[in-house]
Amino acid sequence: MSVTSKETLIALVELGGLEADGLQAFEAVASIGDWEVARVAFLGLKQGRLKTAQEVLKTLPGPDRRAYGQRFNAVKTALEAACERERERLDQSAPVIKMLGEDLSVPGAHLGFGRRHPLTQTSEELIDIFGRMGFELARGPEIEDTFHNFEALNIPGDHPAREPLDNFYLSPKSLLRSQTSTVQIRVMEATQPPIRVVALGRVYRPDAVDATHSFMFHQIEGLYVDRGVTMANLKSTLRQFAKSYLGQDVTVRFRPSFFPFTEPSVEVDMMWDSSGRWVEMGGAGMVDPNVLRSVGYDPDEVSGFAFGLGIERLCMRRHGIDDIRPFYQNDVRFLSQF
Ligand code: DAH
Repeated sequence: MSVTSKETLIALVELGGLEADGLQAFEAVASIGDWEVARVAFLGLKQGRLKTAQEVLKTLPGPDRRAYGQRFNAVKTALEAACERERERLDQSAPVIKMLGEDLSVPGAHLGFGRRHPLTQTSEELIDIFGRMGFELARGPEIEDTFHNFEALNIPGDHPAREPLDNFYLSPKSLLRSQTSTVQIRVMEATQPPIRVVALGRVYRPDAVDATHSFMFHQIEGLYVDRGVTMANLKSTLRQFAKSYLGQDVTVRFRPSFFPFTEPSVEVDMMWDSSGRWVEMGGAGMVDPNVLRSVGYDPDEVSGFAFGLGIERLCMRRHGIDDIRPFYQNDVRFLSQF
């Protein structure tokens, strides 16, 4: 290759140095980060060394440009090939990073978000609403003894509610709790009034499964014990709760009823929809003096109200669901609506 000027000779030597440096740099890369640094340094379109070398061309005497240009192209091809080759080497050794070399405009796979079960969401909202009304959260076991599930709740040994066919007994003295009212007793045994708690959780009854029954469902239990607690407090608390959870326009009614652990007792109904149908939301009443005595409280000193509501029912009323079974079937088409 003959050239006419000394500058061209120097430029060609520099081109050789550039090629050697570049090849060495690409060979040395150990990570995608290194590779990117080398690529920018040598092949970068703005300030890469190759770009600078290309600009030298214009400064050379006309007759030398062809020779320089050819050499430049050869260096460029060699460096681009080295760049490509080292990239492939890295991609093969680090498959995770390979994605970066793929077509990033291809739409990604839709992973889908998980979400909490509607009953969990409902429970959390109920805890929140009652929390704002001053009720703390209490817990009790799902495997209960007959004392907490029955005796202490004023349900004596010969009471039909204790029938083996109506309960899941695990032994003569223990069972899967049939109601969350058990937690009332546990809280009162452990603390002194004033008490204001809610307890939420599963309860078990051997009912045949249909649109409105299940052998396991969820209840929220409330208990308020203090001096001078009245039925008016109970009614306003439940009305206030229903409005908060189901909306201001919900209608709630109280029907006289009977529960062994409350006196007087009521059943609480909510208007289901515009058809005027009433559906039971749960039971409630003033804590029976016998129950207060069973935990060592003096019924002449303190009084209390209690309630137990069905969580599924509340959730169903809120979302317009008319069958309890989908809650337990884990069909994502149902669950993903919440
Ligand atoms: N434990 C009752 C049931 O499962 C519901 C209930 C009624 C709870 C009255 C109460 C209450 O706290 O006062 O059917």
